[in-house]
Amino acid sequence: MFGSRAGFVMAAVGSAVGLGNMWRFPYRTAEGGGAAFVLLYLAMTFLIGVPMMVAEFGVGRRTRLSSVGALRAVGGGVWVPLGYLFVLTSLLIVAYLSVITGWTIRYALDGLVAGYSATPGARYDEVSTGSTAVLFHVLVMGVTTGIVWLGVKKGIERASLILMPILFLILISLAVWAATLDGAGSGYAFYLTPSLSALMDPVVIQGAASQAFFSLSVGMGIMLTYGSYLSGKENLVREAVIVSLADFSVAFIAGLVVFPVIFALGLSDEVTESTMGALFISLPSAFGEMGAIGRVVGVSFFVALALASITSTVSLLEVVGAVGIDEFKFTRRTAALLAGALATVIGVLAAMSGDVLGVLDKVAGEFFVVVGVLGMSLFFGWRMTEPGGEVAAGASPGIARSVPALVFLIRYIIPPVLAVLAWVAFRDMVNTVAG
Ligand code: TRP
Repeated sequence: MFGSRAGFVMAAVGSAVGLGNMWRFPYRTAEGGGAAFVLLYLAMTFLIGVPMMVAEFGVGRRTRLSSVGALRAVGGGVWVPLGYLFVLTSLLIVAYLSVITGWTIRYALDGLVAGYSATPGARYDEVSTGSTAVLFHVLVMGVTTGIVWLGVKKGIERASLILMPILFLILISLAVWAATLDGAGSGYAFYLTPSLSALMDPVVIQGAASQAFFSLSVGMGIMLTYGSYLSGKENLVREAVIVSLADFSVAFIAGLVVFPVIFALGLSDEVTESTMGALFISLPSAFGEMGAIGRVVGVSFFVALALASITSTVSLLEVVGAVGIDEFKFTRRTAALLAGALATVIGVLAAMSGDVLGVLDKVAGEFFVVVGVLGMSLFFGWRMTEPGGEVAAGASPGIARSVPALVFLIRYIIPPVLAVLAWVAFRDMVNTVAG
């Protein structure tokens, strides 16, 4: 059990905030055409993300088991494949997040050793693929596997508890600095003025939903596992709202830095060539512009970001390892090594080719997360007995009164919406992979 309510909220925020906010959100926004994507992402976070986080907390608290076990205990064998989908999703995501974590370490070293390059696009190409990208990925996977092997959580959690606020403060300062740049205005226009046609584009809507789930860490059984450590006293709805607000704010502020910088420093061309590099092209240029201070800020920023991502890679690999321990009766060490080796191999492919990384992100980050959330909504809404009762336990009277509406949403509205979005994601994935 969690020692305190704050401890639980911090753990959930820690899982949610990471590269999804700072790397993936700007990248998907750039690809999705800007402001319309942001607006849809906001809507998806609160209309579907929050209810589904409540649902995961609820299943976990009811069963007191982790994902595969919880699904089997309540639903029987037919639900076990959903648990394995969570495992597969986590395995694929950890494989390429580790590659990107390697880039952040690389950029921290850049600031330390040589200062930030005047040709950020070319530097990004060097950092993001090839043998050094492989090397840093293997390093990150080594550390991740080591932590899962040892089962230590304390050290890294404590480090990130200190570093996350620092990261947040640097991010806010950068946003303020970015606002003073000449030409920041066109960045804000792109980021904040939605076009009506993009708002109705099913692929953009689906992309925003996937991004919301990815960033909130829902649809992978992680929040379920955290919920299993809760007592009946916590107000699940309130906690889900707090976690989601924190997660949304970090992503939104990251965008307030990235887009003005891209436009003010004339980096649009380089970013169009590789939207996945949006963060890694714009921020080092910003740090380069800031002179000596930029190196200090840059190094602190990338170190903090690397640590925030390692907490994510650890918990994602733990999802895979835990199933090895519980279902296959491996020792923790064997499970950690097997899961780590598998993720390392898959990630090496992504480190050698940006195309492979893009495909993994499409398959796991876009498609599987939507299917995972769809499965979870059906499970919570239709299979678990008295789902509303679980949510209402610990809720304030006001929230308890709105629980039936929440259950209605998860039963009747969310599944059909997600079924359509899963179909859209599937077609988009097939098109991209085939093209
Ligand atoms: N939410 C994390 C991020 O924004 C990434 C992530 C997705 C994750 N699913 C997860 C982290 C499960 C931990 C556990 O970077």
